Amino acid sequence: MLSFDDYLNDSTKESPKQDAKTPVAEKSKTHSIPPVDSASELDFSPAQVQEVVSVITAEPAAKSVQAPVPAMAQAQAKPIAQASASEAGGVTGVEEISFNAGRIKVDEKRIINCRADVNQLVPFKYEWAWQKYLDACANHWMPQEISMSRDIALWKDPNGLSQDERRIIKRNLGFFTTADSLVANNLVLAIYRHITNPECRQYLLRQSFEEAIHTHAYQYVVESLGLDEGEIFNMYREIPSIHAKDVFELQFTQELSDPNFNTGTEATDRRFLRNLIGYYIIMEGLFFYVGFVQMLSFGRQNKMVGASEQFQYIMRDESMHLNFGIDLINQIKVENPHLWTADFQKEIIDLVMQGVELEYQYAVDTMPNGVLGLNQSMFSEYLRFIANRRLKQIGLPEQFPGAKNPFPWMSEMIDLKKEKNFFETRVIDYQTGGALNWT
Ligand SMILES: [Fe+2]
Ligand SMILES: [Fe+2]
Repeated sequence: MLSFDDYLNDSTKESPKQDAKTPVAEKSKTHSIPPVDSASELDFSPAQVQEVVSVITAEPAAKSVQAPVPAMAQAQAKPIAQASASEAGGVTGVEEISFNAGRIKVDEKRIINCRADVNQLVPFKYEWAWQKYLDACANHWMPQEISMSRDIALWKDPNGLSQDERRIIKRNLGFFTTADSLVANNLVLAIYRHITNPECRQYLLRQSFEEAIHTHAYQYVVESLGLDEGEIFNMYREIPSIHAKDVFELQFTQELSDPNFNTGTEATDRRFLRNLIGYYIIMEGLFFYVGFVQMLSFGRQNKMVGASEQFQYIMRDESMHLNFGIDLINQIKVENPHLWTADFQKEIIDLVMQGVELEYQYAVDTMPNGVLGLNQSMFSEYLRFIANRRLKQIGLPEQFPGAKNPFPWMSEMIDLKKEKNFFETRVIDYQTGGALNWT
């Protein structure tokens, strides 16, 4: 039995400080795809794009990763206190609450396959996850705080924007209006159940709300401009370059949302890690960035300033989602180094390279002609630069040596300070709830 003093001293001070920026166990051997050093080499024909899509939608490797035990049945049958660390998978949080089961020790906490109680937020082990939750809350914003009046006037002026500019806006809204729903679905239907750490789950809950705010923001722009919502929201089923990106992503959600899927074997743990990389690194770290550059370029030219500002706030959130994902992936690697084999690293590099191809095709499709000071070869170079960066962030070798960032101004945009902008531009106070009345 703990004394009161013991109880007071049982704090997170003794928690091991995990280094989220982990060294990579091993560099993979050089990828077979040769580095591309000219813009033209990233020009893909429709047939090549189709080839990529058919590869990624082919018979899923997931067939071989069915968990040996029905996950939910297994988890619910075992009270937390009786669960052994050697069992496959981790707790979900809905197991029987064992009375007097013994108190949680911080050393027992793990990102995946943990059998310690996941319903107790503290003691913290991963301070970086909790800090990101706090930072995300401090960045809270709502779409209706941003004035769309100048955008509406410009959009309705027949001479306000060129056809190329209008295409960029509509296609980006076409991609983003449904993309954040796909991300949210992946969070709540695929990965949440398998993350066995409460501070990381806390961030996932905050991130899920932010994805809802982003979908709200895109809808708000569509509504403000009076766009055909059927046309915009159906683009992910009607525009090939958007469809291809979403099909690529959905494969990751589908295999994990299978109720029979469970982590706890080498094969399934890799599938889980693959999903995290597919969403945090490729979707949020690559597939969003052509659109971000394009939409923010309007604001830089004093056009569509409201929509541009919406995207700026979204990009700030997404930048944090990406950074959380990188920390999460690297921590799982630290705790499970056996997963990070040369073959698996090659598989991940291949996925990132497919992502680069799909995103370049999206750039071509949204912007067939140079406009706003942007052109296709700049996006080709930018995607190489970003792909290098993303690979490096999870400890993989760069595939495009020497790629430069043609949009250095993007980093300033990510660092936007809410205080500076919001007090200049906010137009309404959103309701935060009335005073409580207890009588
Ligand atoms: Fe989002
Ligand atoms: Fe996100």
